Amino acid sequence: MERGFRICPATRAKLNHIEAGEGTMEDDTVFQEEDFVTLIPLFKTKKEVRYVLRLRRDDIFQCKYGSIKHNDILGKAPGTVVKSHMGFSFIALPSDLSDIIRNYRKFRYVTQVIYPRDWGLILAFGDILPNEKIVEIGTGSGAFLAFLARRIGDEGWIYSYEKDPERAKIAIKNLESMNIPKRYTIKVKDVANEGIDERNVDTVFIDVPEPWKVIKHAWCALKPGGKIIIYVPTYNQVEKTLKELMSQGFVDIKIKEGFIRDIQVKPYAIRPELKGYYFSAFIIFGKKSMVIPWRYIVDLRKGIF
Ligand SMILES: C[S@@+](CC[C@H](N)C(=O)[O-])C[C@H]1O[C@@H](n2cnc3c(N)ncnc32)[C@H](O)[C@@H]1O
Repeated sequence: MERGFRICPATRAKLNHIEAGEGTMEDDTVFQEEDFVTLIPLFKTKKEVRYVLRLRRDDIFQCKYGSIKHNDILGKAPGTVVKSHMGFSFIALPSDLSDIIRNYRKFRYVTQVIYPRDWGLILAFGDILPNEKIVEIGTGSGAFLAFLARRIGDEGWIYSYEKDPERAKIAIKNLESMNIPKRYTIKVKDVANEGIDERNVDTVFIDVPEPWKVIKHAWCALKPGGKIIIYVPTYNQVEKTLKELMSQGFVDIKIKEGFIRDIQVKPYAIRPELKGYYFSAFIIFGKKSMVIPWRYIVDLRKGIF
């Protein structure tokens, strides 16, 4: 028994039952080969530690706390406790995507990526719906593409453009290693110079350093009323982007920034974590209009920008 860690007797009995191979649990309620597993230490660590591994029979996971046999996790129920050969205990849980992106060793970062704190904001304020046809400009490491591909339903598709062939290759490997549903096509193309092939798309999502260079192509690709979402980390980029959006026929423009605070999970001191605030980016939302409002033309002519 871990110090300070107790399993209620009913759960313990159930786990023993399953571990003894007598359980009647369905196969998909226990860990199987190819599943992603997050290992969370049951001992104190200086920094937060979470390990992610993909289960393969006879493989061994190594970390500074020793080695753990995949076979010790296979066939066990989520929440099972495994011990490394050095005697450190971990709780094994199914991994979520944010765990995989941050902690899976096979996920390679070749660019800045969009993190979970902004994924939901983009989805909700951008009103991205299942089965949409989406264009993404700036595949990068494929982090946001991985999130989208898991969210857009069986009939949805994402055409993701990346101008750097090496990055595109790494993004493809990243997505394959994470077992992301194949609801995407990665195209190696510089959208600023070569444009977008698709037409009548529901949403264009842009995460490139110079979005103003691709906005006119986004307009051509979108269906009337279609949504544009742009992710930029500086005010300077926001200003240039806004001017371009207004002059290219995008309306209903909104700019948002998300704040998120972690609250420490300590029963005797539940309060915000004492870590600093980290800025991520501004998110700009707009819709394709067939007419440029007169007010925009006045603002643009006045040289407000
Ligand atoms: C910040 S990264 C995107 C990160 C991605 N959203 C993620 O979450 O992993 C920006 C990417 O856009 C690509 N890029 C920049 N300008 C581009 C353009 N005009 N056409 C296509 N890709 C472009 C860059 O090569 C870079 O890989």
